[in-house]
Amino acid sequence: MYLTQISLVNFRSHKTLNLSFTPGIMCLLGNNGQGKTNVVEALYFLANQESHRVSSNQPLINKESDKTKISGNFDVSNNTIQLEIELTKSNGSTTWVNKNPVRSKEALGLIQVVISAPEDLEILKGDPGQRRLFIDQIATTLSPRVAGLRPDYERVLKQRNSLLKSASMLSGKAQQNTIATLDVWNEKLIQLAAELILIRLQTLDQLIPVANELYQQIAPNNFLNFQYQPSWTGELIKPEGAWLVDQLTLALKSCAEEEIRRGVTLVGPHRDEILFQLNDLPVKGYASHGETWSIALSLKLAILTLIEADINNQSSPILVLDDVFAELDEQRRAQLMDIALGVEQTIITAAAEVDLPKNLLAKIYRFEDGGATSD
Ligand SMILES: Nc1ncnc2c1ncn2[C@@H]1O[C@H](COP(=O)(O)OP(=O)(O)OP(=O)(O)O)[C@@H](O)[C@H]1O
Ligand SMILES: [Mg+2]
Repeated sequence: MYLTQISLVNFRSHKTLNLSFTPGIMCLLGNNGQGKTNVVEALYFLANQESHRVSSNQPLINKESDKTKISGNFDVSNNTIQLEIELTKSNGSTTWVNKNPVRSKEALGLIQVVISAPEDLEILKGDPGQRRLFIDQIATTLSPRVAGLRPDYERVLKQRNSLLKSASMLSGKAQQNTIATLDVWNEKLIQLAAELILIRLQTLDQLIPVANELYQQIAPNNFLNFQYQPSWTGELIKPEGAWLVDQLTLALKSCAEEEIRRGVTLVGPHRDEILFQLNDLPVKGYASHGETWSIALSLKLAILTLIEADINNQSSPILVLDDVFAELDEQRRAQLMDIALGVEQTIITAAAEVDLPKNLLAKIYRFEDGGATSD
């Protein structure tokens, strides 16, 4: 698939911007702060109904406006798909597919964009919540049927937490009565928790060997793996449904008193850690900047590979490489270009021409004074 046209109205720094794209390599070139990443962020938003940089939509709306509109035309296996999204300051959002208004969920998965960007470093260096979110998002990308699992788990968790909070503020009979109502939530929580952990493990089992292979192409004799660390003490000895249900039941029992005292759920996938390891050392806190960057890139390229391998996908995702080349040496740039040339469309951003691979045959947009012109 490829983007043929993108139009932005009051999106971040762009009051109005219209760009035409072709298959192959597209390059957005320009000084810092000229709005290159803003364009690929808008593209990512069209595909995923969310930004890859921020969790709230407010920063996406130009500071002098109260709404923004993003429109994109795509070619997907010779069919045209038009996606439009309008976001308002009051958190409203409307989505159209081929001019028809749809619920935002219905537009998910029509377009696939894999983006590698400096923000990815946070997956490896940031707090465990970033890694959990990353894996849960990949799980949904690879099997959209699990999209509801994390929201369902979070809903039950919220209910259970509010009961625990009430119980923590009560005593005697009133507290006992509140605790008694926990049972039904425990059962739901454990069921969904086990499912979510299983999906994460399956996703990691698919992703990490492919990422490891890609990483070894860049850095031979290195080994990338992971450890899933559950929120209860102990390891995941038998990662299957019934065993997980038993473990979660035991763990919840053993921390029941502390949960009531603290008024919060202490066991479950919302507190698990996914430890990425390079040569058996944790990436976080041990890997060098260049290694961390290359691991992040390998993870993203692994997602691309898995989407391409899926027989339900007739068309390769759009690959976005935002500020990636500046971090790589000449050999790694050449290797990455081989991959970039293998997909229908790759969009590259860079601040300077020297940051690009040599002999790059690309359509170049130059970003200057808030606008963009093509060569
Ligand atoms: N809501 C907004 N309203 C107006 N301007 C905004 C808004 N959000 C971001 N900007 C501006 O957009 C610019 C950043 O754009 P962007 O991140 O696309 O830059 P870039 O060209 O990718 O730069 P770099 O090469 O440094 O990555 C900044 O100058 C920022 O102030
Ligand atoms: Mg940028």
